[in-house]
Amino acid sequence: MKIAIISDIHANWEALETTVHDISGQGVDRIVCLGDIVGYNANPAECVAILRELDADCVGGNHDRAVAEQITTAGFSVRAARAVVWTRERLVSDVIEFLTGLPLQVSLETHLVAVHGTLGPHGGCENTYLDSDERRLRCFEALMQHPSRARICAYGHTHRLAIFELREGSVRALDGDEISLCEDSYYLINPGTVGEPRGTSERRATYLILDTAQLGLSVRRVEYNSSVPALKTRRAGLAPRSASITTMFRTAVKWSTRQLGMYNFVRRFRGGISGGL
Ligand SMILES: [Fe+2]
Repeated sequence: MKIAIISDIHANWEALETTVHDISGQGVDRIVCLGDIVGYNANPAECVAILRELDADCVGGNHDRAVAEQITTAGFSVRAARAVVWTRERLVSDVIEFLTGLPLQVSLETHLVAVHGTLGPHGGCENTYLDSDERRLRCFEALMQHPSRARICAYGHTHRLAIFELREGSVRALDGDEISLCEDSYYLINPGTVGEPRGTSERRATYLILDTAQLGLSVRRVEYNSSVPALKTRRAGLAPRSASITTMFRTAVKWSTRQLGMYNFVRRFRGGISGGL
């Protein structure tokens, strides 16, 4: 079986559309989404519609659950909390019900357990970052005791592509875009993010393909025009504060140069001015 594993779409329709197009050429049997379908960007309903049409196996992320009012936005950034309110106001009840019904875990037979943050017996797993050796070790312990008997846990939430292997008692990070898995090892795998890159120069959407027959994992990177969702997000008032300041600065420069009768002169030379006018 070939499984496409995607995560953290965050209402970025352009990124999801391009990713789904790439997935369509990979001969996959199932698509798993590790949550955070909504939040931050301006096309939440469209992204939910695509995943429902694809019959993807989805788990709920912290942003999905906040929009569904299953958790509060305590601990969210100002921008994230603002997007939760904006999103909730724009989704029809059917979509809210879909988000409300998302499970915290999905098992695909013995192949895979899918979660948003981490696997564990306690609540709040969708809000926990698997960003330390200690947390990864605890997740591996939970995976080893999981009733599905799966040896792979797919997680998201960090927006960072990562693959960790537990073999003969030690954990190591694996690099490379084509990885062979060992049937007697355990794995934590994170496909990165489709729609909201963070803390990296990588602007492409990333996802994983797991081939359960060949025991292989492939990293896929998908180019898309990120300026379109960025513009929509800005127009919706959901952009990061720094982007708003940049826009305000550009507007101020544009207004000033117009007042001084220099606008056309500056426009001709805007290639030399960072970001244009
Ligand atoms: Fe996220």
